[in-house]
Amino acid sequence: MRLDIVSIFPDYLAPLGLSLVGKATRTGIVELAVHDLRQWTHDRHRTVDDTPYGGGAGMVMKPDPWGEALDALLPDGPEPSGAGDAGERPVEEGDGPLLLVMTPSGTPFSQPLAQSLAAERHLLIACGRYEGFDARVVEHARTRVRVLEVSVGDYVLNGGEAAALVVVEAVVRLLPGVVGNPESLTEESHASAHDGLLEYPVYTKPPSWRGLDVPEVLFSGHHGRIATWRREQAVQRTRERRPELLPPALQRPVVRPAVPADAGELWTVQRAAYLPEARAHETFDLPPLLETLPELVEALATSTVLVARLGPRLVGSVRGEAVDGDVWYVGRLLVAPDQQGRGLGSALLAAVEELAPAGSRVLRLVTGVRSTANLALYARRGYVEVGRQDHPATPVVVLEKPLPA
Ligand code: 6GU
Repeated sequence: MRLDIVSIFPDYLAPLGLSLVGKATRTGIVELAVHDLRQWTHDRHRTVDDTPYGGGAGMVMKPDPWGEALDALLPDGPEPSGAGDAGERPVEEGDGPLLLVMTPSGTPFSQPLAQSLAAERHLLIACGRYEGFDARVVEHARTRVRVLEVSVGDYVLNGGEAAALVVVEAVVRLLPGVVGNPESLTEESHASAHDGLLEYPVYTKPPSWRGLDVPEVLFSGHHGRIATWRREQAVQRTRERRPELLPPALQRPVVRPAVPADAGELWTVQRAAYLPEARAHETFDLPPLLETLPELVEALATSTVLVARLGPRLVGSVRGEAVDGDVWYVGRLLVAPDQQGRGLGSALLAAVEELAPAGSRVLRLVTGVRSTANLALYARRGYVEVGRQDHPATPVVVLEKPLPA
């Protein structure tokens, strides 16, 4: 792979001579050149930046040095003067190098992106400084080569050099022959062969260190049990640290207090979840279906509302409200239709019961007489019928469960 890196601080990239990347350069797997952008300036001060049009803080990288840098480094050399050919033919894969423009507003860098970059023959990496590049640099470059603006994370660095080091290291270690044991590439965190899970914890000698022991299973010599343990550890770590990385089949609902931003989604799921109740009772005249969005927003402010999320989806909710001092009134228990029958209703009920204020004597709830599944759930959780009420649309059952004193 050929790598050209352009920066106003070429010394910043000196670490590329070390370790695995340095070795890959010496063995010829990588052909690396770092270029000082200032060689493409022509004034006495070798100026690379200027103040922004429209005002504002900071400096902007001038287009000219970058344009000349690309003229020099693109295999086709400078474009014909007049530049009238821009946009004649769309730039396609196989059209020479891929230009990576390092910027905090770029596409997030990731292991899959590193993998696709490792398949390129020639990367040209532009490191910006200050507030950014004149926007025409990228616009014009796109007429000549494929361009990808890349960020290494949601934070701001003084310049793209450290980010370029990150990208080069992640890409070069994927090139054949760079990492001694290619299997270590598939074992590590984010490897696609392991569902993109974080890596399990690893240990080496001694077996006991400062009172901490290596988990027993790793001495068992039983490969199946070790693999199972490692898989469980990887899933648990990912669930705790990066739940958004879990494959859908491994995700579990998380219950937490509702926030105002949940209102719209909760209102929509509530209506979907209560639709079968309307059918069972042959009426739409049920409070959870009649509740307006403003009323639900109001409820979020005045009562205790919990929501369950499965990954990004809102899949359930329940409310609790104190009435008459000693009754914790539970209501609006709902689970998204496709998520019912997996214990989520029970988990929501348990969570809202926990939130009964001190001094509450009894849990009370009301449900439709024909809500068979709900009645069964409430019975399992220890609720007993204490009466029936004739509501305008349909009769309801009142259920109670005493709270420990
Ligand atoms: Cl590529 N550049 C700068 N300046 N800041 C960054 C970044 C790049 N990626 C994250 N933050």
